[in-house]
Parts: sequence; C-alpha cells; structure tokens
Amino acid sequence: MEMAQKAGDPDAAQVVVAECLVLAETKDHLNWELMGEAVSNLTGDERKTLKDAHDEVEDEEDEHLYHTKGWTRELWLEGLGLPAVRPPPEEEEDVKTAIAAAKAKDSRKTMFKK
Ligand SMILES: [Fe+2]
Repeated sequence: MEMAQKAGDPDAAQVVVAECLVLAETKDHLNWELMGEAVSNLTGDERKTLKDAHDEVEDEEDEHLYHTKGWTRELWLEGLGLPAVRPPPEEEEDVKTAIAAAKAKDSRKTMFKK
C-alpha cells in the first residue's frame, strides 16, 4: 500500500488494501467455520461457551467476507476502466449468506444493459 501511495496512485493503494482485506477475511471466515465444526465435537461448558461465541459472531464474519469481496471486485473493475458498481450490490443488499452474495454478484449483469 505504501509503495502504491508513494507512486502517487491512490486508486492502486485502495486496491492493495482491498486485496489484503479479502485475504484476512477469507482466513477469518475459515477459522470461524472450523470453530463451528469443532464445537459440534465438544460437550458441556466448553461446547456452550464456544457455541455461544460462534453463534454470535459467525454471521458477521460471513458478511465481512462477502462485502469485502464485492468492494474489491468493483475497485478492480473500475481500475481496469470497466463498468463498476459502487457501492457493490453485496453492500446495498446487505448480503449475509453465500447464496445472497452469488445473487448480488449476478445482479450486476442487469445493471449495465441498455
Ligand atoms: Fe471478519
């Protein structure tokens, strides 16, 4: 990001940040998914504590990933000189599931038809 900023290209710096966030949110998503699987093999207080934490946070983590991917895609497209949707449909439609994210992404197709 600093290299892109120093090069005087704030748009490129923004894409670098977005890429880093997608990587971080992808790992975050995987970790919470793994915790969900692990919880199902626990019992007693451990299970309750981790299940409560998982139930509280996992939907938010899904949302982080889908929204970040949408922003990154649109920043890239804009940088390539292609039509971009900002804010991305994932953000506008408050996407929280993989199915909704796929539908939001697909909805872009109708946004540029004449
Ligand atoms: Fe996250």
